[in-house]
Amino acid sequence: MTSPYAEHFPALRSGFSYLDNAAGAQVPSHCIHAISQFLTGGSCNVGQPYAASQVATALKARARAETAEFLHCLPEEVMLGPSATALTFQVGRALSRLFKAGDEVVISELEHESNAAPWRALEAQGVKVKTWRAHWPEGRLEPADLRALVTPRTRLVAVTAAANSVGATPELAAVAEVAHGVGAWVFVDAVHSSPHHLPDLRAWGADFAVFSPYKVFGPHLGCLYVRRGLLAGLPADKLWFVPDDSPQKFEPGTANHEGWAGWLGSLAYLREVLGGGQPGREGLVRAFQRIEELERPLLETTLERLSRHPRVSLYGPKQPQGRVATFCFNVTGLPPRAVAEHLARQGVGVAAGHYYATLAADALGLMPDGAVRASLLHYNTQEDVERLMAGLDSLP
Ligand SMILES: Cc1ncc(COP(=O)(O)O)c(C=O)c1O
Repeated sequence: MTSPYAEHFPALRSGFSYLDNAAGAQVPSHCIHAISQFLTGGSCNVGQPYAASQVATALKARARAETAEFLHCLPEEVMLGPSATALTFQVGRALSRLFKAGDEVVISELEHESNAAPWRALEAQGVKVKTWRAHWPEGRLEPADLRALVTPRTRLVAVTAAANSVGATPELAAVAEVAHGVGAWVFVDAVHSSPHHLPDLRAWGADFAVFSPYKVFGPHLGCLYVRRGLLAGLPADKLWFVPDDSPQKFEPGTANHEGWAGWLGSLAYLREVLGGGQPGREGLVRAFQRIEELERPLLETTLERLSRHPRVSLYGPKQPQGRVATFCFNVTGLPPRAVAEHLARQGVGVAAGHYYATLAADALGLMPDGAVRASLLHYNTQEDVERLMAGLDSLP
């Protein structure tokens, strides 16, 4: 049986089991049509008085406003860009002009390299980078351990909303409390969590955050949030005439307008198909309640089946709480790549490697080969899980 959501996601009609969603989600027709419609209407840049340019101008404003609804923040706190990694490096360069030798940055051990490398680069100017160790193999981050690491010199704490390796979901509000307690900022990587849980920047207390629409059923884009009040003081690389308090300071060059049109289509899918047609954030809240209902049985079955498989060593949280449906595991006697290749021949797409979460892979002793990763989203089915398990059972 193909996914009941294949009606909306053309790629799912092939019957292939897409279980590498952590590397990017499939996109609904809403997104594809919105891109096509934008380009058909006349591809052009923003800011000019003719009709097609005005469409592009309005589209960019709408993309900013609707992304703010998605993140639960203000439109002027939203910056649209090419990828979370590129945007995080941009912030890193700006902060390098503010941070001094002897200042400190804390990076959690669950971070994707995109939320580690830009901060490690600050070491060249004497910034001390500390690692907030997780408890393994669950990948649990304890706020008490963070409390012991931070000092009055701590300027930034980099933490993920969900680990793209083992799927663990740290308590962000507790992280913000500890960081803010010593006057540090919090940089949240919401890339992996955002197709599972609707971001809530107000509740998280984040000062900076990134997510990538391509993980949330949209095109290949990235997005940065900077808390109001911080933006004007950030010495970003920008064109001289861009005002200091404008989100454009982190949006150099011409934007991917068709991509942002597609992202608006993806948000329409969420509201219309999963959110009962409710407009605004309310529609997104409902959509993610539905996503939770759809994902929960998939998460529970996969966790249970992988946990009791005789050849599988599963890393990450052992309970459905405090995790998303991302499963990182190895199979006795086989390198992860061989497992992924075998599964690909059975019509199941999974990842093998470290997926840029090298701190976690190191801590688990998995370098250089890493592990297999199966990551599920709401459009996956119990049949996908069965096929994964049958593929594992048929391994040589
Ligand atoms: C947790 C996490 N953070 C950051 C990234 C990087 O995102 P982007 O590809 O938009 O740079 C990824 C990509 O896989 C990710 O999983």
